[in-house]
Amino acid sequence: MTKFNDIQQHLRAHNYHWLVTGAAGFIGSNLVEALLKLNQRVTGLDNFATGHQHNLDQVKDLVGADAWQRFDFVHGDIRKLDDCAKACEGVDYILHQAALGSVSRSIQDPIATNDTNVTGFLNMLTASRDAKVKRFIYAASSSTYGDHPALPKQEAVIGNPLSPYAVTKYINELYASVFARTYGSETTGLRYFNVFGPRQDPHGAYAAVIPQWIAALIGNKPLFINGDGETSRDFCFIDNVVQANLLAALADGSDAVNEVYNVALNQRTSLNELHAMMCELLRERFPHVREHKPQYVGFRAGDVRHSQADISKAAARLGFAPTHRIAEGLKQAMDWYVHSLTSNSK
Ligand SMILES: NC(=O)c1ccc[n+]([C@@H]2O[C@H](COP(=O)([O-])OP(=O)(O)OC[C@H]3O[C@@H](n4cnc5c(N)ncnc54)[C@H](O)[C@@H]3O)[C@@H](O)[C@H]2O)c1
Repeated sequence: MTKFNDIQQHLRAHNYHWLVTGAAGFIGSNLVEALLKLNQRVTGLDNFATGHQHNLDQVKDLVGADAWQRFDFVHGDIRKLDDCAKACEGVDYILHQAALGSVSRSIQDPIATNDTNVTGFLNMLTASRDAKVKRFIYAASSSTYGDHPALPKQEAVIGNPLSPYAVTKYINELYASVFARTYGSETTGLRYFNVFGPRQDPHGAYAAVIPQWIAALIGNKPLFINGDGETSRDFCFIDNVVQANLLAALADGSDAVNEVYNVALNQRTSLNELHAMMCELLRERFPHVREHKPQYVGFRAGDVRHSQADISKAAARLGFAPTHRIAEGLKQAMDWYVHSLTSNSK
């Protein structure tokens, strides 16, 4: 019996009230879905900056009308303290996901990224403290490792940030630890490494690599690889991220809280390998993929060369045990994208 099995069993028997910020986004909507399926009461907060109503509609279809009655939505903005306070009312646990993602976006517009990721974060921490929420789990980021060359990445060893986005995510960790020391808040940061899965947005200038490439391959559009394709990442399927959030929220033991944890697989995949895996999964359904060739373009500013997580801290203190390797995750994600991109039923 894994720790995650224990926690799921506990949740089925105990009804808590959760706030998921960024609920209309990729990771947030998957957290909402998992919590509703575990009989929990959930409030979602989102301003639809990058999230979509169709993500929430899909969760509603997946969980069914009865479970959906346990969901409330606050259409609000974390840059406004009042909206945060309203969303925190009566909440036991917060899973804070709302942020402006993307290194490139932050280089284009550092002020917008700072407003949401730093001011918004501080508002949420403050509202959480004032509402006496039991624990505040937040989305940190592997970008915090910056230019430090060591591999695999261990939580205590970070370098200089390489983008405004990375600065904001590191500031989140600093504020969270100061709130723990100053006000006795319980906070846990989860440094996600390149998460992928259903409902990750394939569209727009700042789309992540996996959904962007799937859309390009299915649509027979040009696909660009930044650099020589040997850049590598520790790609992490969404179910592993959901697991880490629930483990972090319910972890007991004082060594588990007020910490940051890597959330990934400790497995490195190059962009060239990723491309080959995707083509393999799509070639039967889309014969044009056999002839499809990527185009190599320049390296991207702010990108680190290699990324791979040491996950032993999360394993030891939270009981984190990823259930999906990249191949299994890609297959599940691919089936979802094929359905969603070819059926107009977004
Ligand atoms: N996806 C990844 O690979 C990855 C990696 C590291 C960290 N993260 C972090 O995980 C979190 C979720 O990312 P995601 O991939 O689901 O992105 P996403 O863009 O799909 O979700 C973010 C959600 O936050 C909402 N939001 C943005 N600004 C807001 C505001 N001012 N007020 C209220 N809501 C707002 C958006 O509308 C969106 O629904 C973010 O904090 C991101 O920085 C993601």
